[in-house]
Amino acid sequence: MVTFGSHSIDIRTADKSAAWRAPSQPPPLSLYVHFPWCARKCPYCDFNSHAQADGELEAAQLRSRYLQALREDLESALPAVWGRTVRSVFIGGGTPSLMTGEEVDGLLCDIRALLPLAPDCEITLEANPGTMEAQRFRDFRAAGVNRLSLGIQSFDDDQLTRLGRIHDGRQAVRAAEQAGQHFERFNLDLMWALPGQTVDQALEDLQRALELTPPHLSLYQLTIEPNTVFAKFPPPLPDEDLAFEMQQRLQERASRAGFGHYEVSAYAQPGQTCVHNLNYWTFGDYLGIGAGAHSKLTGADGVVRQERFSRPESYLNAAGARRFISREHRVPASELPFEFMLNALRLTEGVPAALFAERTGLGLSAISRPLDAAEARGLIEADPTRIRATPLGLRFLSDLQSLFLPEPVTP
Ligand SMILES: C[S@@+](CC[C@H](N)C(=O)[O-])C[C@H]1O[C@@H](n2cnc3c(N)ncnc32)[C@H](O)[C@@H]1O
Ligand code: SF4
Repeated sequence: MVTFGSHSIDIRTADKSAAWRAPSQPPPLSLYVHFPWCARKCPYCDFNSHAQADGELEAAQLRSRYLQALREDLESALPAVWGRTVRSVFIGGGTPSLMTGEEVDGLLCDIRALLPLAPDCEITLEANPGTMEAQRFRDFRAAGVNRLSLGIQSFDDDQLTRLGRIHDGRQAVRAAEQAGQHFERFNLDLMWALPGQTVDQALEDLQRALELTPPHLSLYQLTIEPNTVFAKFPPPLPDEDLAFEMQQRLQERASRAGFGHYEVSAYAQPGQTCVHNLNYWTFGDYLGIGAGAHSKLTGADGVVRQERFSRPESYLNAAGARRFISREHRVPASELPFEFMLNALRLTEGVPAALFAERTGLGLSAISRPLDAAEARGLIEADPTRIRATPLGLRFLSDLQSLFLPEPVTP
């Protein structure tokens, strides 16, 4: 049983795989590389991230073993992506900016030696303002990283303390300025609906970000995730109405500053959308290497999902036996419509209707019933050429997405 919000997918759902046809060409391919350590764990975060080892020497030795394991992981994954060109690489975490420039250079050399990268391949690295030095950013750029994503979260010192961040507002500004000096393309992550935050405070954070002229912004509503410190000791968050007002005002402000709002949380200046994330949202393929990384790969027999061993120690132990994958399964054709819509509906412009068949290998008739139901409720635009949520559909996105869940089998 797979749970999605208040819904569950019964894995015994009918598999209409007879209707599945391999796409004439495989979807675009991206590479995700996971780095699982951080300076310390933030109380709201449920990503696969762990406080790094105490001593610098021990941390450096672990990184060295990890980089070796990543190379072996990629080598053993090559048959699954043979001959395919990689459009984007995303080095995420955790806090990959804990790696030295030399380590990132070694990692990218390994990747280039093993995989064909497109000439204009987007290569993003996630950085935390508290771990940055100007020289390190310069070295990342020289190693081939051409897009930086900075986890600012807020510029307000009190909020940053509450969020358990290792940086203050001054460091956040400095890091963004350095990002702008060394990278033409960079993103700032901000969170809103923070503990006790007012609309004006959220707008003030956005204003300070805009003054740093980022080409891309990610504005995430703080969510309380299970098994985090915030789930155990919940801070007082703005209520639903206040959060909705905040979201509207942030969207207006970003749009007045020339940002296109292209996904639930993503905003970009013209030509600056994130290739890597767009590939997820348009149901492209991705190979994920590193601890806990997920892959989605389309082959002649269907769509396969893989998961790597999650805890860094288990992943490093698995490297000895060259067995990195802890779980692998073929997605039943009956679940592909939901998986596609879960992603595509996040895009404010939606996707061309023809993309559904291209990416899922199923005819559009597979979703005609839920599409009609969504249209009747005003959640989907009545446009036969595009699949696109209405403003109401975007507001109640999980209700809309759940319409595409597979029908349970009647016993
Ligand atoms: C995986 S983190 C990596 C970035 C980097 N480690 C950092 O925090 O600076 C990516 C982004 O997810 C967002 N994020 C993490 N936990 C979140 C939560 N519970 N609610 C909303 N956004 C969250 C943060 O904005 C963060 O920058
Ligand atoms: S630094 Fe980033 S990845 Fe690490 S714990 Fe904090 S939010 Fe999560």
